[in-house]
Amino acid sequence: MDLSKIDALVAAAPGRIAAAVDLAALEQLETELVGRRSPIAELRRGLGQADPQDRPRLGQALKTATDALKGELDTARAVLEAAAEDALLEGDRVDVTLPAATPARGTHHLITQTMEEVADIFRSLGYQIESGPEIEIAHYNFDALNTPLSHPSRFESDTMYIEPFDGKAKTGGEELLLRTQTSPMQARYMESNPPPVYIVVPGRVFRTDTWDATHSPVFHQIEGLAVDTDITFGDLKGTLAHFALEFFGSSAKTRFMPNFFPFTEPSAEMHVWFNGGWLELLGCGMVDPNVFEAVGYDPQEVTGFAFGMGVERLAMVKHGIKDIRHLFENDLRILRQFR
Ligand code: DAH
Repeated sequence: MDLSKIDALVAAAPGRIAAAVDLAALEQLETELVGRRSPIAELRRGLGQADPQDRPRLGQALKTATDALKGELDTARAVLEAAAEDALLEGDRVDVTLPAATPARGTHHLITQTMEEVADIFRSLGYQIESGPEIEIAHYNFDALNTPLSHPSRFESDTMYIEPFDGKAKTGGEELLLRTQTSPMQARYMESNPPPVYIVVPGRVFRTDTWDATHSPVFHQIEGLAVDTDITFGDLKGTLAHFALEFFGSSAKTRFMPNFFPFTEPSAEMHVWFNGGWLELLGCGMVDPNVFEAVGYDPQEVTGFAFGMGVERLAMVKHGIKDIRHLFENDLRILRQFR
């Protein structure tokens, strides 16, 4: 058996191994040098035919050569693997100091912002924020608020009535409607809470108004109600004047004018000086004793004031918006001005 071929192979191996540029090339070289069809494997298979006396020496020589080659291959593999890993990390490198892609950021609609702003002003005065149902029964929207059947706001031309799915069964024969005002929450709240009461109720209301620059069939109101043992009209004026200063700024001018609402007596409206004229902002008044009676309060024991303001009107006055439809058309060029 001629081992000179093996000596040449082992001598040439380091150079060939060093020349393997990547793991695939190295693997191919490994097959060639120590694989099943390599010259060494062939010789090993021929050992059986060798002179028995020579067999241990030949076998040892083949093993030494194989170990040497495998050792060199393993070393080279470790180097190539480390390099491959480095290349992978380098390619995947993230620069955490680069500015991140900014996701598009949403914002609250101006109407929501306005309601929150008003709620904040009253919260800082100790009021609680409440909310009520948009589908209301006529009792709370009208009767409990001292508004008799003959009142024009109860006409179908002003109010959107709703047919219950199962006739009148669910409402005990009551008429269902989309609330025309947030005032029904006055009655609902007092009915289930004893005095004192200090609440504001933001919400959506509905009327059969035709869509134009100053009307929308859907709009928003904020109701206010304060009931205690000795509330006076002075408290009402002071509270609303304070609100106007906070909301419109320290130069805001307000005035009160008499008005009529079924559920307050006396009733008034508050105007704000805006753009060279007086503008009506809200209705208000001292809670009518009939309302206290309807909810089970004793009119001899408590007095209170109530008010209701239009949210769209507040936003339009504060931001100089001329057409209420801008608030409902979802034109981003307009909405983006109020982020
Ligand atoms: N609910 C009335 C409306 O929609 C506004 C209003 C007036 C509310 C006087 C009140 C109030 O609480 O006292 O026109």
